[in-house]
Formats: sequence, C-alpha cells, structure tokens
Amino acid sequence: MSRTRTSSGAGELLVELRRDAGVPLHQQLEKAIRDRIRQGLMRADTVMPSTRALAADLGLSRGVVVEAYQQLVAEGYLVSRGGGYTQVADVAVAEASATARTTAVSLRIDFKYSKPDVSQFPRAAWMRSLRKVLNEMPHLSLAYLDGRGALELRHALADYLNRVRGTAARPENMLICNGFAQGSRLLLQVLAKQGYRRLAVEDPSDNELREVAVAAGLEVVGVPVLETGIDVDALEQSGADLVLVTAAHQFPTGAVASPETRAALVAWAARRDALVIEDDYDAEYRYDREPIGAMQGLSPDRVAYAGTASKTLAPGLRLGWLILPPRLVEAMSEAKLMDDRGSPVLEQLAFADFVARGEFDRHLRRMRPQYRLIRDTLVDRMAVRLPELVPVGVSAGLHVMTWLPPGLSESAVTAAALERGLGVYGLAPYWMDGKGRSGLVFGYGSLTVKAVVEGIDLLAAAVSGVSE
Ligand SMILES: Cc1ncc(COP(=O)(O)O)c(C=O)c1O
Repeated sequence: MSRTRTSSGAGELLVELRRDAGVPLHQQLEKAIRDRIRQGLMRADTVMPSTRALAADLGLSRGVVVEAYQQLVAEGYLVSRGGGYTQVADVAVAEASATARTTAVSLRIDFKYSKPDVSQFPRAAWMRSLRKVLNEMPHLSLAYLDGRGALELRHALADYLNRVRGTAARPENMLICNGFAQGSRLLLQVLAKQGYRRLAVEDPSDNELREVAVAAGLEVVGVPVLETGIDVDALEQSGADLVLVTAAHQFPTGAVASPETRAALVAWAARRDALVIEDDYDAEYRYDREPIGAMQGLSPDRVAYAGTASKTLAPGLRLGWLILPPRLVEAMSEAKLMDDRGSPVLEQLAFADFVARGEFDRHLRRMRPQYRLIRDTLVDRMAVRLPELVPVGVSAGLHVMTWLPPGLSESAVTAAALERGLGVYGLAPYWMDGKGRSGLVFGYGSLTVKAVVEGIDLLAAAVSGVSE
C-alpha cells in the first residue's frame, strides 16, 4: 500500500514521501528539496526546518534527514550556518525563470504613465494613523462591512471632497472601492443591468475601461475631445445614454473641460435622462491654472463621481471612492458586497484618520512643488532639445503629452528610444480605432529632475536618428 506522509506547518516544509516507491527516503527528500530550490520556489536564505522537527513531522529517523541535508550542502543547494541551522543557498534557478529575468528590457529611464513617486509615501503619518486606529477602534469595526465601506472614511472623504473639489457628497451616497478599476467596473455592470446601453468615451482615452464596458454588456462609442473638453455636440449625435469624462484633466490629452462644456454635459444628461461618470483621477495636482470644481457638484443626481488615492498617495493602496446619485446607492452597495465583501477595513480607517487629521492636505501640499519642478524641467528641456514637440495639457496631473509632427511615427520613435534604454509611449492604444493622430505620453511622477533631463536628451538623440 502506498503511504504518503506530509510535513507542514509553521516554519516547516511540505514533502510527500512514498514509502512503497523503492527509492530510499533520504533520496526522495533530497530530490524534493533540490527540485524546489532549482525551480526558484524556495528562495536564497530561506531557513530550513531543523532536522529534528522535520524528521518528527515526516515520521522519519533523524539520521535520514541529516543525510539528505548533508548531501544538499555538499551539492551547494543548502548552507549550514553556525548555531545549528541550515539555509537555502544562493543558487541559479531553473532555465525558465532565468531567461525571463534576462530578457526583460532594462530601461535607464522610463516615462511610463501612471506612476506617482511612491518613495514619497508618508509612512510616518500613515503609521500614526494605523496605530491610532488599531488602538482605538471598537472590535465591531473588524466585522463584515456595510457595502458602502467604513462610515468614518465616507465622512472624512465627503468633508474633504466638498471642501477641495466642490462636490456635494454625503456619507450615505459614498462607496469605498478598490480603486477606480473596481469602482468603474461595478458601476458599469450595475448600469448595464439597469438598462443603460451605450457608453460614450472620450477619444482618445483610457483603453482598459472600454473592455470592461463591453464585458458588462455595454456598447462603447468614441467622442472627440476638443481643447475645451469632450465635444458635446458629437456626444448628442452619438445616441449614448452614459458618458465617461476626465473633465478636470483629460486623459491623455490634458484638456480641461471649460465651464460651457460642463454645463452642456449636465444639460445633455438631464435632457436624455442620461448619466455622466466623472473620473477625477488626478485633479489634486494642479500647478498653474485656476481650480476647477468637480462636475458632480453641479448635478449630484446626474453625475457619478470617481476618485482614487492611486495618484495622490500610492496605487498599491487600492483605495478609491465613488459619490453616487442616490438611486444607485443600494444596487452598488450590493454589487460591492457580492464582489469582495468590502475593501480592507484597517486601510479604510487609517485613511479616514489620515484625511481627518489634515495629513492628506499636508502630503499634497508637500508633493505639488516637487511634481511641478519635474514638470517644469521636462517642458523646459523639451523646448530646448526637441522644439518640434510641443507639450500640451501641462497644467495639472503627473503626465504631459505631445503631438508628433508629420514624418515622425510613434513606433519608430519609441523603438529608437528603447534602443537607448528609454521608455516612451505612443498614443495609439488610447484611440478608439488605434489610428488617430500620433503623439507621445510622458509620465513623470516617479522621475527625478536629473532623470527627466537625461531622458529628454536620450529622446532627442532617438528622434534625430529617426529623422535622418
Ligand atoms: C484615467 C485614469 N483613471 C483612473 C486611474 C486610477 O485607477 P485606479 O484607482 O484603479 O488605480 C488611472 C490610473 O492610471 C487612470 O489613468
């Protein structure tokens, strides 16, 4: 009869041994450990269980485990350390992952969009909030949540957004989600179920959302973006009953929707019984223009507002929020619970405390001049080294865009840049048909002034190579 014994548990090791296999047990044990190390599944410096503990777990005599460990030490897979413990040695892992590592292009400088400077995350202040919350929250806060999220955070964000973004938020109409990604997906799913059919998106715009909308059962149509925001006349013609706009700082062109565009959008929604989804993803970083409030404040019944901590704090937090027209709150709350039973509560409560104590404002005040300096450097250097590329949409956010002059193709420029270890990215993915006017998008949120200068110099060399 075949018998397998398994060792697992805290600080231990799962190994299946076949006592009827005709292979000595120490060899089986050696092979199991060796294979795992070679495949990169046990990393260098992992502390091995003691021979005594492993022997007891596997029902072996200690001598069998000692023999296996000694063999693996001799082969260089394990290292015996003073103090009587054994660790996994630093050995090359199996072919597949080694190749994957070496083929990844290593970029000297990367203008990839959507990275804030996460090294500036306010760790100390966040820690204070987390500690306070852990000390003070009632036990019940750790129970399952209301589908809208922690009330404390909805309160803190409503106060903040009404003050800073001119919204008309009330905690009961807010919903905390895992970033815009989840908030927008749930919203589109709920709206499709409620009978909405056609979503208009700005063209160009974020391409991922279109796939989400189609998966939710919506038809997606593109509407041109003008310098004053989405073309509302074209929207009128599109037959859409939903529109998604990045009114404060259009992604990717950086256009700011004018007061006329905003008013026309709200009037369109009222006339058509339609809904506007406002993605307010980076409005907090505004440098040299008048503040423009969120559209939600103009028409709380017709605008669903989405915000995120991904640009202001860190995308890894996965913290986002929606301000919903009252009629959508219940369905969205149910959808959120169905999706994941709620966002992690400790982060929500820590963020609530962080916002309520003014740390969020402080962080933004500290970051704005830093990003502005990098933006200024980028724009100034471009004017000197690449005067044919004129940045647009520079007044806010963490990216700028330039159109490309005729004769310069996105693919040629990005490929020539890549050869120089520079990551720059074309506009093509953002156009509905992939074929709109050529341009480049530069994310600068995670770059230093020095890197931006070097990056633009590398780009100038790449462009001159392509133009020759
Ligand atoms: C247009 C736009 N909206 C929203 C977001 C934020 O998404 P999330 O909150 O899921 O990180 C991004 C991130 O890059 C974005 O580009």
